[in-house]
Amino acid sequence: MCGIVGYVGEKKATPILINGLLRLEYRGYDSAGIAVLEKDHIDVRKDIGRVKNLQENNHVEELSGTTGIAHTRWATHGKPSKENSHPHLDNSKNFAVVHNGIIENYSELREFLTKQGYTFYSQTDTEVIPNLIHYYYHKNGDTSLVNGFLRAVTDTCKVLKGSYAIEVLNKDFPNTVIVVRKDSPLVIAKGDKENYIASDIPAILSYSKDFYLLEDNEFAIITTDEIHFYDADLHEHEKHVKSIEWDASASEKDGYEDYMLKEIFEQPKAIRETIGTRFQDYICRFEELPFTKEYLQSLTQIYIVACGTAMHAGLVAKNMIEKLCHIPVTVDIASEFRYRNPLITSHTLCIYISQSGETADTIAALKLAKAQGAKTLAISNVIGSSITREADYSIYTHAGPEIAVASTKAYTAQVTLLSLLGIYFAQLLETSTKEDLSVLQNAILALPNQIAEVLKEENLHILQNIAKKIYQEKDMFFLGRGVDYCVALEGSLKLKEISYIHSEAYAAGELKHGPIALIESGVTVISILTDKALTPKTVSNIQEVITRGAKTVVITNDEENIDMNHYDFVVTIPKTSSYVSPILSVIPMQLLSYYIAKEKGLDVDKPRNLAKSVTVE
Ligand code: AGP
Ligand code: GLU
Repeated sequence: MCGIVGYVGEKKATPILINGLLRLEYRGYDSAGIAVLEKDHIDVRKDIGRVKNLQENNHVEELSGTTGIAHTRWATHGKPSKENSHPHLDNSKNFAVVHNGIIENYSELREFLTKQGYTFYSQTDTEVIPNLIHYYYHKNGDTSLVNGFLRAVTDTCKVLKGSYAIEVLNKDFPNTVIVVRKDSPLVIAKGDKENYIASDIPAILSYSKDFYLLEDNEFAIITTDEIHFYDADLHEHEKHVKSIEWDASASEKDGYEDYMLKEIFEQPKAIRETIGTRFQDYICRFEELPFTKEYLQSLTQIYIVACGTAMHAGLVAKNMIEKLCHIPVTVDIASEFRYRNPLITSHTLCIYISQSGETADTIAALKLAKAQGAKTLAISNVIGSSITREADYSIYTHAGPEIAVASTKAYTAQVTLLSLLGIYFAQLLETSTKEDLSVLQNAILALPNQIAEVLKEENLHILQNIAKKIYQEKDMFFLGRGVDYCVALEGSLKLKEISYIHSEAYAAGELKHGPIALIESGVTVISILTDKALTPKTVSNIQEVITRGAKTVVITNDEENIDMNHYDFVVTIPKTSSYVSPILSVIPMQLLSYYIAKEKGLDVDKPRNLAKSVTVE
């Protein structure tokens, strides 16, 4: 949930560590810290708040060491404070540790160490780690690199329960960092006489394109010239380096005020690249998938499992896959799925969607289905992410790095990829006509240009103007039917997470079963109408809220069937197939949330309490 950076090389470590932290700040950001190996001691500087505080108020420029570790924290145990910030030292100040994750058995470990005479200076679960390393280092009595230092780290991990990505410095080993991960991400980039460590690739992509993606329970000793990999029993093994194709500039702001705005505007490109060359001669190809007609026919159930926005993408896909392929689809929230004993057999296909590929609940839900004999398919935006390493098969959205906490281009890319998958399944199954599938194919191919049309100046002005009028409100409602309801859920989530306005999304027909009691004069209701078969029904529901004094915003591509003058604000979007209309209708809602947050002077990219990658339960 936090960001980890590390450097071993010949340059001053501090500027590289700070730069990496700034790029990782979106993962967690209540405090930050660095530890650098100076001549005869480990120097730790940390501060509460943003990385900027650490950088500007702690004389970090004084540090001249060329080996260091760094952390931005998203507190789980112990309030955000200087003492609780990482790195944490052991009592002897020989070892420094940064940690991403949760140590579930920290209380008993703390009790054990206290009995051994160790003192604790923070409320974190993390502080047991450097002290355990110190304990085992002295207990084993070996001071060599592998049998001493590394063994102390592997021994420590054997008693830890929970999730962790850890970096460790030892005062006695200049130019050395030991790292390990379990259920939390960590990557190593290989340079020339220098090596880098980070929680994710974009943070260090400007230094190298050659990456090692650490596996669970895999340890690495990283020095200036070398990287060696070990298992928990100190057996060394070879590991292949992976070349990453992302362009480093893709994770810069490119003149946009915020990453979120940049990412909204990148959607035409993200969709174009996600479609890639999958359509050839009116056939949708997924050469990386081994599915046969017989296998798909044997399926009694598809589960789509994910969290947050990714789950909302799954809801859109359910509608499409059921109609195109005639297979029942259930969409589940990963944290529910993993604990509800879902019915899973070898006739179940489980699809997991995760932008980051590191979401703890989604990964656990995948492991569960795999253990029960289902085939698992991961959809991620990050090549080599944990979820893709666990799944039987993986396919990728090509949205490029998504930095803003609020997901935008990942959602539209997920819906795009899922619709391609729906077409691919339907082709194999022969459950839809070629004509119907080619109409959908043409609709998908038109999307990048249609998104650009939604992003035209005129619409931006309308949305900015709406934002100015409604930004002070406390409650809003989103209404829709069918896929318009699925996308309403996503619109409502965007509004909540970045503009802190309470909102609810309802299936329009459900309103009169309770929530309409909340509609009173001046309440804003945002409705989506993109399916002309359902327009008259939703129009009646909007009328019901107008009668009770609501202010109405309508997002539609069905101008012919509505009275445009009847609503306070109307945003029009291009016509498309109702299977993929959320890819267009979500964009005004993304922009509206963005403009409202800007009106309120909020930090759009780093909303309070949220982190980009939720690697804890
Ligand atoms: C989206 O705006 C959210 N910040 C959040 O709901 C996110 O989609 C969710 O945490 C899942 O993340 P993932 O796709 O990386 O698994
Ligand atoms: N559990 C640790 C803490 O609260 C690490 C949290 C994180 O991943 O940032 O300090």
